[in-house]
Amino acid sequence: MRLVLVGPPGAGKGTQATLLAASLGVPHISTGVLLRDEARAGTPLGEQVAEVMATGGLVPTPVTLGLVEQRIAEPDAAEGFILDGFPRSTEQAEALDALLAPHGQELTAVVLLDLPDEEVVRRIGGRRVCAADAAHSFHLDTAPPADPGVCDHCGGELFQREDDRPETVLRRQQVYRAETVPLISYYEAAGLLRRVAATGPVAEVAQRIRAVLPTG
Ligand code: AP5
Repeated sequence: MRLVLVGPPGAGKGTQATLLAASLGVPHISTGVLLRDEARAGTPLGEQVAEVMATGGLVPTPVTLGLVEQRIAEPDAAEGFILDGFPRSTEQAEALDALLAPHGQELTAVVLLDLPDEEVVRRIGGRRVCAADAAHSFHLDTAPPADPGVCDHCGGELFQREDDRPETVLRRQQVYRAETVPLISYYEAAGLLRRVAATGPVAEVAQRIRAVLPTG
């Protein structure tokens, strides 16, 4: 299964992609995580990436596309993947189609996680992530760690992402509306779009997603 999760910042794409990856047995590929790894590596490219991410803007498509191309070519993605945060613009969607086509591959479905703006702010404001493993994510109200500031899974230190500060979140929401929302009609026209309400507990959202995915 080749899935894309689309939705505003903080909609729960990473949370749901982790669950789906475990149940479907395909890798969760997050461009946010790949880019943060690149930034942490401190290479010249990483420094450029960090600068853009700190403003809430989009990293240039050749960079994200290159990372995705490399990752989906790995053996564990041969039978499918869950893309989280990519594509994020019509330009990226067209580039992804062009990447898959020569291999006779196409997307199975695109799940849009719908979340009202006020809930976006609440979710992002309370998010804390693990410094040792970005896949370990918590929320101060809805999914708090047992020990404040410490990751339940590995004991790593929890911190607030730099781009989760209010002024950057506002910019990310603007970029989402301008660049990513047009993707909805792109995938609707292709017959791939599945809309899911992202409100309510994590398990309920997961159940809604499963209900809209093709079976078999
Ligand atoms: P990225 O890391 O992809 O950020 P995002 O898309 O803004 O998404 P988030 O990671 O903020 O949220 P999420 O939807 O995954 O929610 P989560 O599950 O964590 O991108 C960051 C930056 O990288 C971009 O701004 C851009 O600069 C760059 N970038 C990335 N991809 C790019 C691309 N393709 N092109 C160009 N640039 C790119 O959940 C959020 C919180 O809510 C958590 O605390 C969680 O515990 C909690 N939560 C989740 N679900 C629920 C629920 N159902 N109920 C209550 N709480 C919940």
